[in-house]
Amino acid sequence: MSDPVSLSRDGDIGIIRIDYPPVNALGHGVRTGLQSCLREAMADDSLQAVIVIGEGKTFPAGADIREFGKPPQPPSLPEVINEYEASDKLVVAAIHGTALGGGLEVALGCDYRVALDSARLGLPEVNLGLLPGAGGTQRLPRLVGARQALDMIVGGKPVKAAQARELGLVDDVVSGDLLDGALAFTRRLLADRAPRRRIREMDVPGDTGAELFSEFEQSIARKQRGFKAPFSCIKAVQAAVELPFDQGIERERELFFKLLISPESAAQRHVFFAEREVAKVPGLDKTTPKRDIQTVAVIGAGTMGGGIAMNFANAGIPVKLLEVKQDALDKGLAIIRRNYQNTAKKGRISAEQVEQRMALIQPTLSYDELGDVDLVIEAVFENMDVKKAVFTELDRVCKPGAILATNTSTLDVNRIAAFTGRPQDVMGMHFFSPANVMRLLENVRGDKTADDVIATVMDLSRRIGKVGVLVGVCHGFVGNRMLHKRQAEAVQLVNEGASPQQVDKVLFDLGFPMGPFAMSDLAGMDVGYRIREELRKDDPDNAPPRNWTDELVEAGRLGQKTRAGVFDYQEGDRTPIPSPDVDAIIEKYRRDNGITPRHISDQEILERCMYVMVNEGAKILEEGIAARPLDVDVIWIYGYGFPVYRGGVLFWADQVGVKTIFDKVNEIYQQTGSDVWKPAQLLTDLAEQNKGFYSK
Ligand code: 3HC
Ligand code: NAI
Repeated sequence: MSDPVSLSRDGDIGIIRIDYPPVNALGHGVRTGLQSCLREAMADDSLQAVIVIGEGKTFPAGADIREFGKPPQPPSLPEVINEYEASDKLVVAAIHGTALGGGLEVALGCDYRVALDSARLGLPEVNLGLLPGAGGTQRLPRLVGARQALDMIVGGKPVKAAQARELGLVDDVVSGDLLDGALAFTRRLLADRAPRRRIREMDVPGDTGAELFSEFEQSIARKQRGFKAPFSCIKAVQAAVELPFDQGIERERELFFKLLISPESAAQRHVFFAEREVAKVPGLDKTTPKRDIQTVAVIGAGTMGGGIAMNFANAGIPVKLLEVKQDALDKGLAIIRRNYQNTAKKGRISAEQVEQRMALIQPTLSYDELGDVDLVIEAVFENMDVKKAVFTELDRVCKPGAILATNTSTLDVNRIAAFTGRPQDVMGMHFFSPANVMRLLENVRGDKTADDVIATVMDLSRRIGKVGVLVGVCHGFVGNRMLHKRQAEAVQLVNEGASPQQVDKVLFDLGFPMGPFAMSDLAGMDVGYRIREELRKDDPDNAPPRNWTDELVEAGRLGQKTRAGVFDYQEGDRTPIPSPDVDAIIEKYRRDNGITPRHISDQEILERCMYVMVNEGAKILEEGIAARPLDVDVIWIYGYGFPVYRGGVLFWADQVGVKTIFDKVNEIYQQTGSDVWKPAQLLTDLAEQNKGFYSK
């Protein structure tokens, strides 16, 4: 392999090129190369200035995250950057692609920055549970002011080149060939005898009062609940205004290393890689050809169908939306339009974009218009007879090779596939509600689904901005199967003596956006009720026994939509309020069933609600419904708001200790004999070997 960094010459200007695919991350080889090329350029009397530029798709996108947690190898990134800043020749960074994290910090060690008009620049370390640890928290405020630096460092969102120019983060924006632009810019600097510009020597401009930092902290307190890094980022930027540069750098290092060894950062880095890894399906050849998806149809314009159609319109893919009746179609389209208009009101899209997207959604009442589409996603009522009618029609009208997908959340995808003469073209695409917002897509592989169908759907997930995870067929797939076990346990805890608000608080405090009961109020209590009633009819021996939640539904308490569910709600407010009526129903349920309520500790709630999910997750892995622990974790992060800083249910389990979890699961199984608590073989094996889901 050629050197990751090389020095070439264009007249009196040295060009240091970083060539380390895929993103020129600043691993050991790159740092060494940057250092030696700079030294060579400094020693070369024929050179007056140096340009640093990235090959391939980007300027360095950061430190090499894979090196974190391993013994550091010198030179460190701060050392390299300091050497660039201290060098006695003019240094210019030429930026394209995404100059992120350590990449931008390298650019901040240069005197001037030129960016291609399409470039983006940012310090996104906070998303990995870190802060910029190579001078970024000290140099950026000196260049753009503390307020802007806080926005960029705590928010972690990159800015576009034009905005970077306005902020003074870059000195020139060029289009066309970046190197030509950077050479011209550097020659102008030399001709003008432009001064060196060491950011460390600058003062922080603008507002630097202490209130700025306390206000900023308050403004993020709710949204960043549980995260450590954003608050450390604020402290580090504050050091830039309060301390001399070198002391500020020391403070930054101290805060950085504290975060680096924190479980939160380990979890967030795990999620970064897991999110990318889920796209690589074990056993599916990377070269599997993909079917061409140019046009799509969605069947059913209800809650899910409308949102699903929006995903495609957002990605510029034309979509036909089919309903049985005109009024249902009109209603569905009106909701889509209203959603787009609300987004436009918030300034996220323009009025013109609303119309462009609406124009991509073509309403229809006739299956005969679906003959040319490449993919159909069915989102009609959750009823096998209705699904059968739809798939029979699709099999009749769709062209050979069209992919036929179902959004079912509980029905057997193999049975649905068997309604067609082409089960190899059928799979599940299980979107989460609201389908235009939630990023998770459980792609369900049927027994006969063809590899190229899987490859196409996984690729398409990314195209429409989703995180697609491949799962197998079972009731509830991965996410809802685990969720149902937790919900049942939450109900059981209340049966035994906990209050719904106590259960909710424990899981909220763990980091979930809401507890199990607030969640069922949001989704609608009738949804679970209908599923239970179906099971009671179809499979009475295995159906869940009646409990107090059935009584709530029968009393008309359906959740937020009736402003009364497990909790009460005030008009226009989603805050759950404990309800004396519900307490009375629960008490009656306990009395009727001869239950004497007992005190239940928060720890017991945590263990029972979470360990039951871990055990189910292990069964899911054992059965091959999910291929890897990371698939399960990504589903929980993107489908249910599991806190990113805990890395997913199974990553969290490893942090607790699988042996500890197994012991408790086994203890509860011995006490209850309940099948749900029967330890999964995988959990048993891991506990015996003292391993975790992720430890090899
Ligand atoms: N280190 C190591 N590998 C990285 C990496 C990094 N900083 N950034 C990306 N990669 C890898 C990805 O894991 C992926 O590997 P794979 O092909 O084996 O799955 C490959 O590069 C391509 O990445 P993406 O699939 O994400 O490609 P995209 O084109 O969609 O996105 C990107 C490119 C915008 C650069 C995106 O990868 C990204 O956001 N990367 C992380 C940027 C970041 O967080 N930088 C800060 C790092 S921490 C730091 O710098 C600390 C410093 O302050 C001391
Ligand atoms: P919904 O009741 O809101 O919408 C269903 C729509 O399908 C209605 O507009 C109805 O008119 C239409 N429809 C019924 N039969 C039809 C037919 N034969 N041809 C064309 N259209 C027909 O239901 P929802 O919630 O959108 O659910 C749809 C599917 O999505 C179900 O399979 C459900 O299990 C699944 N799902 C639902 C989620 C949710 O949170 N609501 C989440 C994930 C999946």
